[in-house]
Amino acid sequence: MLEQYTKYDHLFLNLRPNAVGGIKIFSRNDAFIIQQDYDSLSDEEHSIWKRLFEKLIKPLDQYACAEYINGLRSLGLESTKMPNFAVLNPKIRNASGWELVTVAGFLDEYVFFELNAARKFPVTDIVRQSGRMDEKYSEGAIQNEDDYTPEPDIFHDVRGHVPMLMNRNYGDFLADVGILGDEILKDDKGLGPELVAHNLKRLQNFAWWTYEFGILKKQDNTDTLRAIPNDMNHEIYGAGIMSSYAETAHVAACSKGENSLSEFIPYNIEEAVMTRFDYSEIQDRYFVIDSMESLYQSFYDHQELFWFKG
Ligand SMILES: [Fe+2]
Repeated sequence: MLEQYTKYDHLFLNLRPNAVGGIKIFSRNDAFIIQQDYDSLSDEEHSIWKRLFEKLIKPLDQYACAEYINGLRSLGLESTKMPNFAVLNPKIRNASGWELVTVAGFLDEYVFFELNAARKFPVTDIVRQSGRMDEKYSEGAIQNEDDYTPEPDIFHDVRGHVPMLMNRNYGDFLADVGILGDEILKDDKGLGPELVAHNLKRLQNFAWWTYEFGILKKQDNTDTLRAIPNDMNHEIYGAGIMSSYAETAHVAACSKGENSLSEFIPYNIEEAVMTRFDYSEIQDRYFVIDSMESLYQSFYDHQELFWFKG
């Protein structure tokens, strides 16, 4: 939707085409809200979930941030069965006021931010590698691997994002990001389509480098939560990393100096906001925050970054 508006793109760093190639996008006029039909899930889908989930148990116990580990515990996600939203929703609602909404696929930014502003987290009911995913894309195959699929599936959303939604402060922060996105798109200030698109791209960059691919400095005392002590100087809070075994292992290798392919950059909100990203590769950089609170504070203290007026 925003790709046609490029007037201010030259202001961005790391400029690259980052449209999500080949995936179906649902808009306001589509029937995008559906019901999860839990009883119809196949053994194949449950077994894919189990394989993906179990592979990440150790690395996430060792490297995920405290908010994630605590959230995962209180959520009680089952490792062997696909998540049932009707079971999870009362727990999430009670913890942070958020709820999961089953959707037909990737949503455009208008629908996505409007839902987030109302603490509704859209999740598809399809898991990668399954027959249903193949069927959905039978006309044009998309990458569909254990560690990556361009369409965010139930595994990315529930394994990556949902445990974090069990934390009230994080939930408040994410809702405020949604409210801001919704305000930018509604353009009550009359900035016009080029500036609306540019400011929304800034917010998407922020989201990408923080809650999707963010890293945290190692915090005090989080080893008390872990079965395996954290042997790196960082923790992970980005859902895009935590839902990928390959990227979690990559981050650990970079943090320990065993791999130098990706850079760890001290988080600076202005730089993060102005840096574009690539959907389809392991990230070439990660922004490292001091603490979750410092991330939230930076967002509230620098709202002007999202209201660029040209
Ligand atoms: Fe995500």
